[in-house]
Amino acid sequence: MESTLGVLVITCYRPKPGKDAELQALTRTHVPVLVSQGLAEDRQPLIGRAKDGTLVEIFVWKSKEAIAKAHANPLVGALWAKFAEVAEFVVVKDLGEASHLFAEFDFVALDPPAVGGRAPVGVDVEAGKTYFWCACGKSATQPFCDGSHKGSSFTPLRWVAPETRKVFLCACKRTADQPLCDGSHKAL
Ligand code: FES
Repeated sequence: MESTLGVLVITCYRPKPGKDAELQALTRTHVPVLVSQGLAEDRQPLIGRAKDGTLVEIFVWKSKEAIAKAHANPLVGALWAKFAEVAEFVVVKDLGEASHLFAEFDFVALDPPAVGGRAPVGVDVEAGKTYFWCACGKSATQPFCDGSHKGSSFTPLRWVAPETRKVFLCACKRTADQPLCDGSHKAL
């Protein structure tokens, strides 16, 4: 029988050189993806920044069983693979702050993006052309940025199309494969 108690977890991601912006973008979608898969409590995660630049994320799994299910979930696996491309996973005790009675971190406001749509948007893109994909979810011209993010902590994702073809760009902003749809909207 499944436990009904949630499990609070502290995870630490140290960005690889030049990868902090990508790490932040992934961190914004991490818990929303876990929630969409029924694995984490629908609560705003707390994010902090350690002195060495490591992002510390605190959230609540639904149960120990949910943790095991996450390891077998292909969407979550793809997302974690992206994390591994841009960051090292760090043990809490290896942060300098962990040796203090009161471990203090700079608070980082990384609100999850709004849901810009519940289905991907098919777009004919041209090889070598630059597109600005809306990351905040508030653009009225999904899947592209219309400037609605101004004044927020979001910035659009600059993406150069590798080839001329039709692509399906994420509108729900829960994809682990920005800006492309990875099917995450199906769980919303
Ligand atoms: S309007 Fe969403 S990132 Fe610009």
